[in-house]
Amino acid sequence: MDIKTVGVVGCGLMGSGIAQISAQAGMQVVVREVDDAACTKGRGMIDKFLSKAVEKGKLSAEDKAAILGRMTFTTKLADMNGCDLVVEAIIENLDIKRKLFAELDTICPAHTIFATNTSSLAVGDMAASTKRPQNFVGLHFFNPVPLMRLVEVVRTLATTDNVFADACAFGEKVGKTVVRAKDSPGFVVNLLLVPYLLDSIRALESGVATKEDIDAGMKLGCGYPMGPFELLDFVGLDTTLYIAEIMFDEFKEYRYSAPPMLRRLVAAGRNGRKSGAGFYDYNK
Ligand SMILES: NC(=O)c1ccc[n+]([C@@H]2O[C@H](COP(=O)([O-])OP(=O)(O)OC[C@H]3O[C@@H](n4cnc5c(N)ncnc54)[C@H](O)[C@@H]3O)[C@@H](O)[C@H]2O)c1
Repeated sequence: MDIKTVGVVGCGLMGSGIAQISAQAGMQVVVREVDDAACTKGRGMIDKFLSKAVEKGKLSAEDKAAILGRMTFTTKLADMNGCDLVVEAIIENLDIKRKLFAELDTICPAHTIFATNTSSLAVGDMAASTKRPQNFVGLHFFNPVPLMRLVEVVRTLATTDNVFADACAFGEKVGKTVVRAKDSPGFVVNLLLVPYLLDSIRALESGVATKEDIDAGMKLGCGYPMGPFELLDFVGLDTTLYIAEIMFDEFKEYRYSAPPMLRRLVAAGRNGRKSGAGFYDYNK
C-alpha cells in the first residue's frame, strides 16, 4: 500500500516529530491532541524546529510553508477516518492506549494500519483491543525524531507480511534506517539502554561520583554524545519511570527496577527538560 495520509495521535515530544517527518516526506498529516491549547503547543514545536532549519539555510521558507500546509490539527478523533496509517504517541499507559485504539478501530477504514510508538508496552496487547490485529505494528522512533536516524519496526504474532513490509517502507520513506524487531519488551534499544540509565541513577545514589562526573565519564570514556543524566532529562524522567516499571513487571529483574531517586524526582514534578528541571535545572 502507498501510504498517502498519516494520522498522528498525541503531539508531544515524539508525536510532533513523527508528524513533521511524515509531512516532510510529502504525506498529508492529521494530528490529534486533547484540546486546542495542546494543538497550538504541538504545532508551535514543529514551527520552531522548521524555522531553525530555515535560519540555518537547510530548508527554504517555501518548503517550510508547504510542510506546515500538509498538516491539519484537530481535537476530534473522528478526523482520522481518512488515514492509511495512524501512529499513536500518547502517554505510556496500556489502558489508555487500548481505549484509544478500540475507538480508532470503529472510526478508520479496514485498510488502515495502526502503529504505536510505545517504548516498552507489548504491541500485541494493544492490537488485541482492535478487530484488526493483523494490521498492527510498532513504529518506535527516537527523540528528537527529525534528527535521530533509527526506527524500530515491530511485528506481533498477528502482523501480516504485507503490513510489516508497508510499515518498513514507511520508515524508509520518512528517512530512517529500519531495524526489525519482534514484540519483546524494550525491543532492541531499550532492552539494553534502560538498565544502563537505571544503573547510572543507582551509581549516583550510592555516591560513586557526582552526576556531572558520571556524565563526563561516559561521554569522554565511551564516546557517548550525552551522559546518562543528560539523556534521562532529555527522554523525560516520567517516561523513563513508566518504561522501567513496565519492563520490571515483565521480567521481574532487579536491573529494570526503578531507583527511589527516580521516583522522588517524578513525584516532585521534575520530569526533565520538558518540565524545566530533572537531574539538572534548565530554568537558569
Ligand atoms: N520521550 C522519548 O524519548 C520517547 C522515545 C520513544 C518513544 N516514546 C514513547 O512515545 C509516546 C509519547 O511520549 P512523549 O515523550 O512524546 O510524551 P509527551 O508527554 O511529550 O506527549 C504526549 C502527548 O500526548 C497527548 N495525549 C494524551 N492523551 C491523548 C489522546 N487520547 N489523544 C491525543 N493526544 C493525547 C498529551 O496531551 C501530550 O501532548 C510514549 O508511548 C513514549 O513511551 C518516547
